Amino acid sequence: TIRRTTVPQIANRKGGEPIVSLTSYHAHTATIVDGYADFILVGDSLGMVMHGMDSTVGVSLDLMITHGQAVVRGTQKALIVVDMPFGTYEESPQLAFRNAAKIMKETGCGAVKLEGGARMGETIRFLTERGIPVMAHIGLTPQSSHVMGGFKTQGRDEDSWPLHEEDARVVTEAGAFAVVLEGMVEPLAAKITKQVAIPTIGIGASADCDGQILVLEDMLGLNKWTPKFVKTYGDLGPAIERAVAEYAAEVKSRAFPSEDQIYR
Ligand code: KIV
Ligand code: NA
Repeated sequence: TIRRTTVPQIANRKGGEPIVSLTSYHAHTATIVDGYADFILVGDSLGMVMHGMDSTVGVSLDLMITHGQAVVRGTQKALIVVDMPFGTYEESPQLAFRNAAKIMKETGCGAVKLEGGARMGETIRFLTERGIPVMAHIGLTPQSSHVMGGFKTQGRDEDSWPLHEEDARVVTEAGAFAVVLEGMVEPLAAKITKQVAIPTIGIGASADCDGQILVLEDMLGLNKWTPKFVKTYGDLGPAIERAVAEYAAEVKSRAFPSEDQIYR
């Protein structure tokens, strides 16, 4: 039997072979990603990618659980990490524990991720001491986009670096097993990666991190807009469009279904 990648196995990759990860929200794509990723994130970006929302703020706990179940069912190897959505953990460590435990019980995932640095230290400690592994997420934190006035790359002003370094230090000391660095200038991501004992997982945060993550649909070319930090490895948007157009034409011409698809 195949055993899933464990939280300590991810934590032990600090400074070693880069950690590979992608998001997935969907059983069939997760099965493909499972062959290559050390961990798979069921990110709350699913609100935008799968459900057409403008931001991740509207994503519910139930939606995360539904997609988390799909990804756990579709995989065998990767550690599955599920995002805690906005409003389900910020208020208190107790609320965070209740909701994180619900996610873990109902999906079978191996860890949760939550946004925020120093201000989330107490909560990260509360969860990890009680059996819930936490991946932290600092730098550009999309759930705070209303406060930040959009999605802004962090650390362009060197005066802000100590705050980000403090975030990384606090989440590490609180017990996070890894930390996502999102939307951060390269020298700051490199500095933080050197300073903390846990793996840093970069998205728009340079090649200096201990691992990388991308949103699967972004790297497959399925989103209408591609940010600078995304490399498009696939061109699925046009491929899907060609297939749909051909199907539509064949239905109209009665070329589909043909002999091969008919029960005699
Ligand atoms: O929701 C998400 O996809 C994420 C990754 C971008 C890190 O949090
Ligand atoms: Na997220």
